Amino acid sequence: MSEPLVLGIESSCDETGVGIVRGQEILANEVASSVDQHARFGGVVPEIASRAHLEAIGPTLERALATAGIDPSELDGVAVTSGPGLMGALAVGVAAAKALAYAWNKPLYGVNHLAAHVLVDELDHGPLPLPALALLVSGGHTQLLKVEDLLTGITEIGTTIDDAAGEAYDKVARVLGLAYPGGPVIDKAAQQGDPRAIAFPRGLTARHDLAKHRFDFSFSGLKTAVTRWVELAERDGREVPVNDVSASFQEAVADVLSAKAVDACRFHEVDTLVLGGGVAANSRLRGLLEERCGDAGITLRRPRPGLCTDNGVMIAALGVEVIRHGGRPSPADLGADAGLPVSRVLV
Ligand code: KG4
Ligand code: ZN
Repeated sequence: MSEPLVLGIESSCDETGVGIVRGQEILANEVASSVDQHARFGGVVPEIASRAHLEAIGPTLERALATAGIDPSELDGVAVTSGPGLMGALAVGVAAAKALAYAWNKPLYGVNHLAAHVLVDELDHGPLPLPALALLVSGGHTQLLKVEDLLTGITEIGTTIDDAAGEAYDKVARVLGLAYPGGPVIDKAAQQGDPRAIAFPRGLTARHDLAKHRFDFSFSGLKTAVTRWVELAERDGREVPVNDVSASFQEAVADVLSAKAVDACRFHEVDTLVLGGGVAANSRLRGLLEERCGDAGITLRRPRPGLCTDNGVMIAALGVEVIRHGGRPSPADLGADAGLPVSRVLV
């Protein structure tokens, strides 16, 4: 049998993504982002995101089909992010996927956004050796996952107890007067700064925290520490060294994420770590993980930065995986589930 051909739709946050994948080959990766419309609010505004998805979904779909040069009749299925994410945003993608699957008479697969972030690396580096651990870091999530089976065996072993890593980037960028989203701009500013200039706190790494939260994360204390440091400097009339603050903040984030990920691999006796989510595009996190995984004998798998942020290709790739393994299509009344747990890969 030839490789499954799947169209994937992603609309869980502020990116409208349509991807078309055949087996392991990306035929189209079209993404329309509403990020500019959220910039002045310093974070994603759900109502604005939903409206932007409605406007973008048609044109994005048409571009993807044209780029791939396929006819919908050739498809083996339509996959869509069913959750987790923003309810109103998810609903647009799910409604579109249901309409297309019905009109084209194709099976519909409602899938999990987080599992798709984990799986997308397979497009770059082939089948993921299992068991593996996944470090998923985005604007909405910061999790350590144990992956024993990509469709039926993903369990959370750690998560943030407050902010997500990407959220901390976005908030610190606002404090420093930098653009939104904060990740890419802080990443850039940090390259000109000294990561040892300021000793910012590493959340949940003290001995008493490790007892209960060994594999969990906390970034709200770090965010507050950066805010206080900047406020004090401004109060004293000192110029804020944006590059040094960025580098020191970024070092604290990358240090904690990589240390806990490596510790989790050792504890669970797993020798493959896969990265995913928007913050996985961060240069320091990628570099520090490479160093620490190398020292610990762990194979690090990192998708190209362009596949780390939200896109339709990762959803299509998960659809391909589901079809390969004979997963049953989702019911025609498939809904959006804002709180879909990571253990539920196919809805
Ligand atoms: O996975 P994603 O595209 O959307 C969510 O599901 O949240 O992640 C978006 C997040 C934003 O918070 C953004 O600031 C962050 O990823 N991000 C980065 C970088 N590029 C994007 N954070 C740090 N360094 C980067 N280079
Ligand atoms: Zn995401």
